[in-house]
Amino acid sequence: MIEWIPDARELADLELLLSGAFAPLTGFLTAAEASEVTEHGQLPDGGAWPDPIALALPREIQPEAIRLGDRITLRDPEGAAVAVLTVRELSGDGDGHGHGYHVAGPVEALDTPAYGPFARLRRTPEEVRKELPEGEILAVTMRGPLDGTALEDVAATAEELEAAIVLLPLVFGEGGPAVVRAALKAAERLPGSTVVAVPLAPREDAEIDLELREHVARNYGATEHYAGPAPVAIPGPPHRRGLVVFFTGLSGSGKSTIARGLRDVLLERGGRTVTYLDGDVVRRMLSAGLTFSREDRDRNIRRIGFVAAEVARHGGLAVCAPIAPYAATRQEVRAMAEEVGADFLLVHVATPLEECERRDRKGLYAKARAGLIPEFTGISDPYEEPDDADLVIDTTGMSVEHAVSTVLGTLTSGGWIR
Ligand code: ADX
Repeated sequence: MIEWIPDARELADLELLLSGAFAPLTGFLTAAEASEVTEHGQLPDGGAWPDPIALALPREIQPEAIRLGDRITLRDPEGAAVAVLTVRELSGDGDGHGHGYHVAGPVEALDTPAYGPFARLRRTPEEVRKELPEGEILAVTMRGPLDGTALEDVAATAEELEAAIVLLPLVFGEGGPAVVRAALKAAERLPGSTVVAVPLAPREDAEIDLELREHVARNYGATEHYAGPAPVAIPGPPHRRGLVVFFTGLSGSGKSTIARGLRDVLLERGGRTVTYLDGDVVRRMLSAGLTFSREDRDRNIRRIGFVAAEVARHGGLAVCAPIAPYAATRQEVRAMAEEVGADFLLVHVATPLEECERRDRKGLYAKARAGLIPEFTGISDPYEEPDDADLVIDTTGMSVEHAVSTVLGTLTSGGWIR
């Protein structure tokens, strides 16, 4: 039985496919359909459609495992089975390791209880259309609050058309509940209007985004669409934003020493809440039982990333100091932090192997050389040097104080601490 958890965007698209908000689409597009959409803005039957709605095969599933006609269960991150997809096509020029493939086919909803903030407002187009009066319908898609001018525009347009108003807050990600609250507030000023939350992830291309909003609005019964003004994203100042400071480097490079020094200075200065996730401490607690195989190292780093992102989600500052030898996994952690609206700073503690080995504080290099520790990073296991480090520190001949103040300097100049 094949099943997986699509990413947040794919799950949002899936919900719209299932609800009928993406009608006439009933599933994820095949490669031929997707290229017709991308090149000509239409489906093979000629109907206009702006965006190739696609589902990626997760990296950990081998393409050979997928057969045409298979029924795949798609789950949400909490584990609820959301839908079944019947495989019509597996396409892509992947690298042979299950990367770069797409799965196409129709989806069917499974009976799952709706939950989450404002779940009761996530209604299907069919339900909503049944309740709407005959005549003109003005749908307003919103990605942020309607300011005074927009409210007046909407009210005036509705009056002119004698239209009923449907407010469609487009919810996706962290900001979702705030958009719904903005719509409910606007509804108080627009008597008789209906609010329906629609999980439509924003598209990068503004034109495609607008066209997709129009399609969704029409499916909700709109005869007229008003695109709410795009909110100007004003992220909080850096000293209020969450931050993950992620040290990476060989064992003995000085990561933990600098990270601990940084934590201490931050606590002494005050002004930020700090969580320190030391590599060795994490190995004893969060990752107890994991080995040093690539799979387990990746698991270890993802766990650290998960905790760090939760800390940063609430504006906290997380300091992490594992070896984290693989670039792709470090990149995943960066993405996890950015997904919750936090910043991510990669500090490469680039002390050369010879120096780490000369120090050999824990005596592990000697053992690794003697063949007593297999898969030892730098000796018998790889370390991928970062090419995306925000700061590089070689601690050879450098005092701890100097190293810590270098990191502090970066935090200060970036505005993360004052
Ligand atoms: S990581 O690769 O998963 O990021 P992590 O930082 O948690 O590694 O743990 C590294 C620490 O584990 C090292 O500082 C060292 O003390 C110890 N260790 C034990 N075995 C190994 C090994 N095979 N490779 C690297 N470090 C090891």
